[in-house]
Amino acid sequence: MSENILTYFEQIKAQGLSIDITRGKPDAYQLDLANELLSMNIEPFDGDVDLRNYGEPYGIQDARILGSDLLSAPFDNVITGEQSSLMLTYQMILSKYLFAKPVSWKDVEAPKFICPVPGFDRHFRMLEDFGIEMITVPLVEDGVDLDLFSDVLQSNSNVLGIICVPRHSNPSGEVYSDDNISELFKIGRQYSEDFLFLFDHAYLVHDFLPTKDQTAVWKLAEQNSTTNQTVVVTSFSKVTFGGGGLSFMAAASDNLDLIKQIRGSMVICPDKVNQKRHTKFFKDLRAVKDHMKKHADLIRPKFEIAYKALEKLDKDVGEYSQPTGGYFITFKSQKPIASKIVELCKEAGVLLTPAGATHPYGKDPGNNILRIAPTFISEKELEIAMDVFVTAAQIAHSQD
Ligand SMILES: Cc1ncc(COP(=O)(O)O)c(C=O)c1O
Repeated sequence: MSENILTYFEQIKAQGLSIDITRGKPDAYQLDLANELLSMNIEPFDGDVDLRNYGEPYGIQDARILGSDLLSAPFDNVITGEQSSLMLTYQMILSKYLFAKPVSWKDVEAPKFICPVPGFDRHFRMLEDFGIEMITVPLVEDGVDLDLFSDVLQSNSNVLGIICVPRHSNPSGEVYSDDNISELFKIGRQYSEDFLFLFDHAYLVHDFLPTKDQTAVWKLAEQNSTTNQTVVVTSFSKVTFGGGGLSFMAAASDNLDLIKQIRGSMVICPDKVNQKRHTKFFKDLRAVKDHMKKHADLIRPKFEIAYKALEKLDKDVGEYSQPTGGYFITFKSQKPIASKIVELCKEAGVLLTPAGATHPYGKDPGNNILRIAPTFISEKELEIAMDVFVTAAQIAHSQD
């Protein structure tokens, strides 16, 4: 390795940087796009519904209509919750754990779930909470590796379901093809009519570049007669305010009953005032999509800055994803040096998502996948952080 790069790294370290690119969050300019929500006047009554009081446990009508349009699912199959889709997913799993028919998941021996990787650390945490063993299946360009998905099902009993991010997957950005999703449905249903297809559509409307066509998951579930086994969630966490948006779920039959039942024990009703504020701000799905174009214009340049730095790395050091939407870039090193890169970045004052976070139990067997979240920090800080990243990757590669 050239002495120059080590000297350069020492110079960076001497600057005492403090930059955090661990989580995919909108920046303040993105949040500003929805500031109207902060000062919006809401009438107390929506028709004959008093928004200030308990009632409408599945969400106000306008919010459910918007959810129904977003998810392309019938109104009666959609509930609108509070701000977190992750919470709806957790509630769904909890309800299956306690009350699933014919056997509640707590009574299933050695329960298992399939997790496509790389994936989202909070999905893994959630499944771990319930003592559900996670079996990984790699993602390929058009979705889940179906051969390996079949293999896992053939060689395991008590696999309860799969959790997928079908559009701009977190973190590697795959957009599942219709064929991939349909095959997933066919194979999973053949395995068991109780197999749960959980789709976390966190990045449903988050394209920042032209993105390949994708039929709505709920429509594909209808075509494959799997709506009874399918649950789709999304939210406005990265549309309006993180922790201040709305969440949506589409489900059918037992699953719909279960989510209603468990939520009935937990929340008497969601925040209807915030729901009304949002449906006033977004008159329809078109308004959501127009709003997301403004996000896209703010996000795209951040990704371009990151690529400009990553381009400097030789292919034998590693390769990176170039998604058409979502919040992340995945870097895949050739050598098992992900944890070393994180360590070096930390020494230089740049915090990355920990190595291993993209895999269940925090264990990436190849120690070679890292998630870069370029959106939250300023463009200037991002240039610096990416320079640190590229330098750290070069050093880690040459020292291994
Ligand atoms: C795949 C995925 N699901 C869910 C969430 C969180 O969504 P919410 O704020 O609606 O709980 C995120 C946020 O980072 C995410 O990346």
